[in-house]
Formats: sequence, structure tokens, C-alpha cells
Amino acid sequence: MLDKVQEKILILDFGSQYNQLIARRVRECGVYCELRPFSIPFEEIRAFSPSAIILSGGPSSVYSPGAPSLSPQVVSLGIPILGICYGAQLLAHTLGGTVVPADSLASREYGHTDTQFDTTSALFSGIGENSVVWMSHGDSVKELPSGFRAVAKSAGCPFAAFEDSSRRIYAVQFHPEVSHTEYGMIIIKNFLTAISSLKCTWSMADYRQSSIKAIREKVGNGKALLALSGGVDSSVAAALMSEAIGSNLTCVFVDHGLLRKDEGDEVEKIFSAYPVNFIRVNASKLFLSSLSGVTEPEKKRKIIGETFIRVFEEQAKKIGSVDFLVQGTIYPDVIESGMGSNAAVIKSHHNVGGLPDYVDFKEIIEPLRFLFKDEVRALGSELGLPASLVNRQPFPGPGLAIRVIGEVTGEKLAILREADFIFRTELEAAQVEGASQYFAVLTNTKSVGVMGDSRTYDYTVALRSVKTSDFMTATITHIPYPVLEKVSNRIVNEIRGVNRVVYDITAKPPATVEWE
Ligand code: XMP
Repeated sequence: MLDKVQEKILILDFGSQYNQLIARRVRECGVYCELRPFSIPFEEIRAFSPSAIILSGGPSSVYSPGAPSLSPQVVSLGIPILGICYGAQLLAHTLGGTVVPADSLASREYGHTDTQFDTTSALFSGIGENSVVWMSHGDSVKELPSGFRAVAKSAGCPFAAFEDSSRRIYAVQFHPEVSHTEYGMIIIKNFLTAISSLKCTWSMADYRQSSIKAIREKVGNGKALLALSGGVDSSVAAALMSEAIGSNLTCVFVDHGLLRKDEGDEVEKIFSAYPVNFIRVNASKLFLSSLSGVTEPEKKRKIIGETFIRVFEEQAKKIGSVDFLVQGTIYPDVIESGMGSNAAVIKSHHNVGGLPDYVDFKEIIEPLRFLFKDEVRALGSELGLPASLVNRQPFPGPGLAIRVIGEVTGEKLAILREADFIFRTELEAAQVEGASQYFAVLTNTKSVGVMGDSRTYDYTVALRSVKTSDFMTATITHIPYPVLEKVSNRIVNEIRGVNRVVYDITAKPPATVEWE
């Protein structure tokens, strides 16, 4: 899909926790890049046709048995190479230098480290001669391969950076991709521009054009089907596919009745204006009856997942066989599945994993599979989707059903929808910082209150707002008390059935973002 992109960086992944960051930084500089496992065959590397290669860091030692290695063929491609951390050690080791294992504490460095740079190196042009970098290594390079010279040093690392500029091979022991490295972005930019002579003009407008062309070539006059959830990814995929193939695309929007206030109507309004076949299935009654009497969180998720598939399958049958099934998979999902994540299942995310078994189709199209989340948003804006949709915060597939604790009923959903709307509106109006995801939860607790002169016995609403970039860990948003007070007053005064509001002040871990 991206063959038309001229400037491409290949990042060979040796397993560092910072690898996605390298990809992010390269793209921020305006160059398209992909992260691939270090073990891919050389032929795949050549076929990718990279303008330059970055070797990432990783947890291994070059001397451990089975340590990831570097094919000398990669060096013989003659394109610029930047080795980072393990990548730097691997270059030294492969090209004839010496790496010493971390047997003495003195050779280990971790965290902020003062470093001296030789700014005559093209890699360090325009940076301070003395600055701070982020180190995280045990082994170190002791002797450079022939033809190399040292261009940076720290107290514990005489070869904090080294280069053979005639072959355009560069290596840094530290992590330029981590924001703690003072001039990290300049170093990466220097590698891309001064060393690799790239123009750095990759943009979402390019992506839009090249993807549309590639989709048209692939789909031809074929028919495609897309399950639209109203979330950012499937909406952007729909808008892109619509521009590429128009009415050959059918979007099925299963409204499970578990969306936030007005959301279903908004999705319908937006996509009815596109030249696609848009089908909204109002299945809220079916979902509610399937959830009747169910209180256990995982059971709720399973029921919603299964019901969703049933409804979608019915629609797909009506449409008949299609050539392509479109999915809104994005790059972090691809990277994680490619790396064979062994993470424990804390919650089953029903909308990850797709629908392929249930629909008669020939091939899957994933038009966003190379984009990070914020790039998907940028593409959405580029395609003219409204900001309210493009900037939508993450919303779980099972929707409000996992924010109504205990049994889900129409009455509880109505209460939650209003409370959630008030909270989101007030938080946005107050422009509270550090709110990546914020919503209301209807707890299953009733408590005693007093309203007017009467006793009440009503529900407690909990407010949840977290600051996070990856949703794996999160801290709470520091919402000013006057904002919380206003939200609480509005909820209790405007919504019947609620007499108490609390703010959830638990980080993740130990709590998860959602309550169920
Ligand atoms: P947790 O609650 O696991 O949530 O800390 C992390 C992020 O994932 C979202 N989430 C889901 N997303 N289907 C989804 O698509 C789900 O079943 C689901 N459960 C949680 C949650 O909103 C948060 O952004």
C-alpha cells in the first residue's frame, strides 16, 4: 500500500521498550518508517527498499547464546545506518570491534548522563557540546572497529557515540528517541537530513493520496464491507475507503444502544452524507434483553461480543458475499501482535480480533495498519471528518454496559448518559489539563440523601478521569475542586435518581481505567 512512498526508513527491532518511540520520532521528522523484527530475511529488507536503516536497542548482550545478530549483508547495502544502544554494540561487534560485558558496575549507566559531543560530526551538528542523554546499558564498546572514530563520551562510556562517516555508519550508546535526551530530536533529524539526504516531506496528504490510489488498484470494481462502530479508527477507515471506492463500500453501523448521549445519531448524520451504502441497525432492544439479569463483567462483554456478531452476520447475509472486509486495525495493534505479546488477559476486548469467520469475503483490507493513533486522527481531519469525531476519546466496544455496574437496564443507561454528558461538558469547558479519558460510572450503590425536606435513597455516580499516553498505566487527573463541585451539583440537581457523586482517585495499576 505504501510502495509509492519514496523516502522510507526501516527500523530493525531488537526488542527495546523504546522502539515505538523511534518510529514516532522518525515520522514526526516527516519520514515514513516501519518497525520490523530483526530476524526478517535479508530479502525482505532489500524488498522494502529503505533509504536508511536504524538498528534499535534491546535487552540482549552480543555475547549471550542466541543473541540477535546483524547480517553483514545489511551493512553491504551501502545505505546510511544508525545503531542505537544494543544496535550500536551490534555494529561494533559485527564490524570487528570489542564489546565488554557488564561485569563491573562502573561500566553500567542508567538514566540521565552528562555527555560530551564532538560537534564536527554531522550527527551532532547544531547541538550543545555538553548535554544530557538517556543511557540504559550494561555492556559497552571497548574497542572500535577499524575506520571508526569516537564522537561522544561520558564518564562511564568512552565510546558514547562513534562513526565511520565515509560509509555513513553511525552508532550511539544512548537513546536519542527518549525525551530526556536533550538534543535527541536534532540528532535523529541530522541522521535523516544531513546524513541520509532525505527531504522529510511525508505528510498525511501524501498518505491519503497514495492509499487511495493503492485501494483503487486493489479493489477495482469489487465490493467491500466495513463494520462501523463510531469510534475514530473505523470512522477514518470508512472515510478513506469512501473516497477511494464510493458506493462499492457498505458500512454497517450496529447501534447496540450502549453509546454515549447523541452518539448514534451523530454517526448516522456524518456517514449519511458520504457516497457509501450506510446501514444503521438499531439493535438496542436485542442487546438489552440479552443483558437482562447479567451482572458479571466478563459475561457482559461476551454477550455483547456475541450479540454484535450475530447482528452483523444477519446484515452480511442480506448483503451477500463481498470481495473485501475492511478493518480499522492500527499500527500499535500490528506491532503488538507481531511481537507475540504474552501479556495476561485482564479483560477481553471483544472488538479486537475482528469478524472474519462470520462473513463471506475473499480478503481483508486494513487501510490504517501503518498509522499511529494520532496519525489516524490527522488523516481523519485531512479527510474532512469533524473534530468532534476525530478527537473522540477511547470508548470501549461494550460501551456503557461496562460503566453501569451490576445489571444493565434502560433506566440506568439513561441516568448514566446524562451524568456522563454533564461531566464531559464541564471538564471540556474548564479546559482541565491531563484528561486523556474521562467519563461517568453508575455504581450499584444507593445511599441516603436529603432533597428539599424529603429523604432520598438514590444511586451514586462515580467520575473517572485519567492522564495516560498508552492506557497501560495511568494517573488521575488533578481536577480543580470548583469544577468537581459544579459537576456534582449539576448531576444531582438535573438528574432524577442520583443523590451522590464521588471522584475515583485511583491510578492504574492497581485499578484499571474502566470499572469493569
Ligand atoms: P482498562 O480498563 O483495561 O482500559 O484499563 C484501558 C483502555 O482500554 C479501553 N477498553 C476497551 N476498549 N474494548 C475496547 O475497545 C473493550 O472491551 C475495552 N475495555 C477497556 C478503556 O476504555 C481504556 O481506554
